[in-house]
Amino acid sequence: MNIAMIDDNMLDADRLDKSYLDRGLYFGDGVYEVLRSYNGKLFVLDEHLERFKNSLAGIEISGVDVNEIRGRVRKAFDAAKIPDAKIYFHVTRGSALREHNPQLNIKPNFFLTVSDVGDSSKSKTKGISVSTYPDLRWKKCSIKSLNLLPNVLAKMDAAKKGCDEAILVDEQGLITEGSSSAFFACINGSIHTAPTTANILPSITRKYIIKAAGLLGIPVAEKSITPQQAKNADELFLGVTTKDIVPVVKFDDSIISNARPGPITKKLISEFIKFTQ
Ligand code: PDD
Repeated sequence: MNIAMIDDNMLDADRLDKSYLDRGLYFGDGVYEVLRSYNGKLFVLDEHLERFKNSLAGIEISGVDVNEIRGRVRKAFDAAKIPDAKIYFHVTRGSALREHNPQLNIKPNFFLTVSDVGDSSKSKTKGISVSTYPDLRWKKCSIKSLNLLPNVLAKMDAAKKGCDEAILVDEQGLITEGSSSAFFACINGSIHTAPTTANILPSITRKYIIKAAGLLGIPVAEKSITPQQAKNADELFLGVTTKDIVPVVKFDDSIISNARPGPITKKLISEFIKFTQ
């Protein structure tokens, strides 16, 4: 008889719940999205679904109806009644016995959670510390995949150093992005951020930060910078769905913008909020 064991509990493998056979568990074989609401209104759901569609195509998962996912997101969000919510949803290639090459008629699994986005006011008003870490991820980071082990190890390293985020540095010595955020530097009045041709996630917050900069007449250079340039920058900040714009006031051992959020960062935070109203 095929046996399975969950902790100390042994059972007939044929009676295993399908979640234990999920390819997301075995291989990280899946993709995900996270979007948020502001005061009861979902923010740019369609843009997240568009990116999700690209992620599914990027790992060749077919048979997922994105309109069905739109309906599920709305249904769960409405049921949760959380005004400022974060909604995570995931699709894996499905559940089957462990084989690298997936079985032909495997059916994707869907999993979603809605929870409160939490209070990030302290990090937004005081700023956070970040530390650099090698970018050990695969070469297709434009896909929002469940393969997040390099991101997790980077974040764990940052936490050991008392930092809130890890800033990833590639083999060319250039900053790509945070372990779970987009990265920006203000240098001589211009905003610098890695181009989407770099190995980064096409961050939706990044897109709206660039739009906000345009409305404010602040030049944007989509050009990667080195950690040394970041250390010498006038201001640094992150962009991420769950926190919008987060000022960075310490980068490795360097204090940034006198250890408080800089004027351009604060202007962008105010401008960004207008998109969400
Ligand atoms: N992370 N880069 C990476 C590697 C990310 O994981 C994220 C978001 C971003 C910012 O993308 P966006 O602006 O679309 O949220 C950039 C989410 C929050 C997460 O994994 O929880």
